[in-house]
Amino acid sequence: EKGGFEHFMLKEIHEQPKAYRDTMRGRIDESGKKVVLPELKLTPEQIKGINKIQIIACGTAYHAGLVGRNAIESLVRIPVETDVASEYRYRSPIVTPDTLVIVVSQSGETADTLAALREAQSHGAHVLAITNVVGSSIARDADDVIVTLAGPEIAVASTKAYTSQLIAFYLLSLYLAEVRGTQAPEEIAQIIAAMQALPEQLDSMLAKPEAIKAYAEQISKHEHLFFIGRGIDYAVAQEGSLKLKEISYIHSEAYAAGELKHGTLALIEEGIPVIALATQEAVLEKTVSNIKEVSARGADIMAITHEEHVAGLLKSVNQVFAIPKTMPLLTPALSVVPLQLLSYYASLARGNDVDKPRNLAKSVTVE
Ligand code: M6R
Repeated sequence: EKGGFEHFMLKEIHEQPKAYRDTMRGRIDESGKKVVLPELKLTPEQIKGINKIQIIACGTAYHAGLVGRNAIESLVRIPVETDVASEYRYRSPIVTPDTLVIVVSQSGETADTLAALREAQSHGAHVLAITNVVGSSIARDADDVIVTLAGPEIAVASTKAYTSQLIAFYLLSLYLAEVRGTQAPEEIAQIIAAMQALPEQLDSMLAKPEAIKAYAEQISKHEHLFFIGRGIDYAVAQEGSLKLKEISYIHSEAYAAGELKHGTLALIEEGIPVIALATQEAVLEKTVSNIKEVSARGADIMAITHEEHVAGLLKSVNQVFAIPKTMPLLTPALSVVPLQLLSYYASLARGNDVDKPRNLAKSVTVE
């Protein structure tokens, strides 16, 4: 049942190229230049009338929502708010019939996310669910559903569900951009082509886990570490940090790279591991200057970046892990993979129960 893998988590990490293909299948038209989402009840008129989007989810699904926000805001220019579901209802959210609410849930059974969905509907909002389970409570109650086709996810730590949620967000953003005319058709075609290249790029990364495995063994001896990044690198840093805590029990924090010096830099001392995500060209120089701040305090830094920046970064960091080149918006679909493998191997090195971490359940049906 684990398909020759030692754990479900590793199997599911390796199923990601397939999950990408399956989630895209039938949602890109034959010309390869347009996204089609025939399942949506949301009409073009409704789409044109949306004045705000709220994305609501828990844990890893929330982290997918952070990347989703970035994709929607940059491609569609509609303001997006993100909330963890357990906070949403209690902050008297401003939600009206012109708000599109997107709930994200692998299981479709998370109690807080379901309650947030109902709260949004009670204010007349149209709720679109991104879920991996067709017959789930969230899929049944939502007004619209985009199903991720990741296949069953057994390991408590979510991997292929997260990356399939990213694919769903990219497809949805492109579709909204088409309907609202916010991107040129050539731009859309270019993003679709880059998305179609992702599965093969993933395969090439999955074929070479050795460097990450060795690094995982190194960090498994530590009790604290930091992830830093800017923009969507920060969103991925948050996901990497959650994954690591969840299964390796190493305490870690994800920080917006520029925010460290507002307090947390005090915790950086000789030898502390810092994982820096530096994939976003537009802010690379800024991230490098933050890397220098921690490096000056003796941090042991590992950077994740594209091949072309490896040499430059090696001037300020101890190790670099290169990911294949894609469009800036799509990098999370690749850059999260070394972080998934890192948590997996760190958990393994610590002798933990990788698939069933202590105190956690796969589906959280209590509020
Ligand atoms: O089934 P859901 O996507 O609604 O679950 C949400 C979270 O409980 C879940 O993503 C959790 O954070 C994972 N165990 C993280 O790996």
